[in-house]
Amino acid sequence: MSLTFSRRQFLAGGLALTGTCLVGPAWSNTARPRLPIPPLADGTDGTPLDLTIRAGMWSFKPGVMTPTIGVNQDYLGPTIRTRRNTDLTLNYHNTLTEGVSVHGHGLHVPGNVDGGPQLEMPPGESWQPTLSIVQPAATCWYHSHTHGKTGDQVYRGLAGMIIIDDDEAVSKELPNRYGVDDLPVILQDRTFDAAGRLVYSLEEAGEDGWFGDTAIINGALSPVAEVPAGKVRLRLLNGANARFYILAFADNRTFYKIASDGGLLEAPVPMTTMEMSPGERCEIIVDLSGDTSAELLTFFEDDIDEEGEGIVSGLMGLLTGPGQSAPPASLLLTVDRTLVANTVPVPERLATIERPDPDEITKTREFVLEMDHGESESAHAQGHGAHAGHAMSMTINGAAMDMGVINERVERGVWERWRIRSDQGAHPFHVHGCSFLIEQMEGAAVTPDQGGLKDTVVLDDDDWSEIVVRFDHLASDDFPYMYHCHILEHEDQGMMGQFTVTDRTG
Ligand code: C2O
Ligand code: CU
Ligand code: CU
Repeated sequence: MSLTFSRRQFLAGGLALTGTCLVGPAWSNTARPRLPIPPLADGTDGTPLDLTIRAGMWSFKPGVMTPTIGVNQDYLGPTIRTRRNTDLTLNYHNTLTEGVSVHGHGLHVPGNVDGGPQLEMPPGESWQPTLSIVQPAATCWYHSHTHGKTGDQVYRGLAGMIIIDDDEAVSKELPNRYGVDDLPVILQDRTFDAAGRLVYSLEEAGEDGWFGDTAIINGALSPVAEVPAGKVRLRLLNGANARFYILAFADNRTFYKIASDGGLLEAPVPMTTMEMSPGERCEIIVDLSGDTSAELLTFFEDDIDEEGEGIVSGLMGLLTGPGQSAPPASLLLTVDRTLVANTVPVPERLATIERPDPDEITKTREFVLEMDHGESESAHAQGHGAHAGHAMSMTINGAAMDMGVINERVERGVWERWRIRSDQGAHPFHVHGCSFLIEQMEGAAVTPDQGGLKDTVVLDDDDWSEIVVRFDHLASDDFPYMYHCHILEHEDQGMMGQFTVTDRTG
């Protein structure tokens, strides 16, 4: 419920924190870990990439080792770099004692290489998809999509970033030196027990999904990164299981959103605060040419608005209020003037986005996401409180995910309008195999920062969100695409459907 309320406040408020300095650097630099930069797995020249899924031990907290899983490393995986108009071959090898499927989220690739739950690798086995990358430059990601275990496996670490490059002139002007002025920033949250182990339970997740109590960025607590004294690009990925994040710089500076899920916006959008739902990516540019540091605060959206004060007072209350015990989690960027800086102005035009004429949209589908409380009333009566998730059934159009059922059949190359509504609560609705355009979000016209290529759209109680979408690749009955809520506990509890994309026959 708090999620819902704060979202509305956020979207309606316009969010000017004008002139307010939120807070000085929250922590001293020396106490902070460095931002872990996942190594690059460079597939830009067609070299196959070996990706070994394995168990590991990762230190999230100083001096504490936590059992995790990762890809070629202990937690998370390398950043896969690829390029438009190349073939990307991935040699996945599952060394775990459980089955795993790995999905390329945001990739425009056919269903048989999409990595949905049908493509599970049993323990010890491999999977070697070749992906033809035909889409524009974008920040995408890969993550577990194992049937019923996505939330658990992502939580333990089975995720990583994918960067698609292209040869457009603008791509050369934007900061693009990975790990220097082009940084992957993966936002997640985790809860640890006294022994340092990750705490997770699908059964005990609340109705909004599983929330960790500790924010982590690339697997580190409030890390620091040294950057040049110029333009810095952050590739932000909300890789959390269920959290919505609100981001703002501590000095309330303006940053420029340049890209959303599926690639560059048409033009940069100046912003001071930004919301990100699970599964979403945003690329932003922040200019540090006149600074020694800048601190990106990562707020839990549900914390901000617990009392329904709206985002501005909520942010201020969190930072200054009597109940404020710990500083908010953050990423501190500190300037190293010995690094070569990108001082090229942010281009005024970034991309041209293809949009259909209204009369090209020939088909409309409707999707309603529902959370049915079932027996949760009696669970409440027995004092189980918020831990009533096991009694909930999560559906889309009245049906829970069934691997044996194709829920929708779509024709390739045809524009469609999808109208999606939540019966209760906020949900990030994600569609495989495409980028789409949002036409309406929660009953309101789309804002410029949401006007680009997307694969995830937020829904709220009662209002329709509308997207227009066209699928250009095939997905068969054996290897269908998915649409689902990207709150992973909702997905694992059934808020997902399957669809095929085929050419018209006859
Ligand atoms: Cu990021 Cu079907 O998922
Ligand atoms: Cu996906
Ligand atoms: Cu949901």
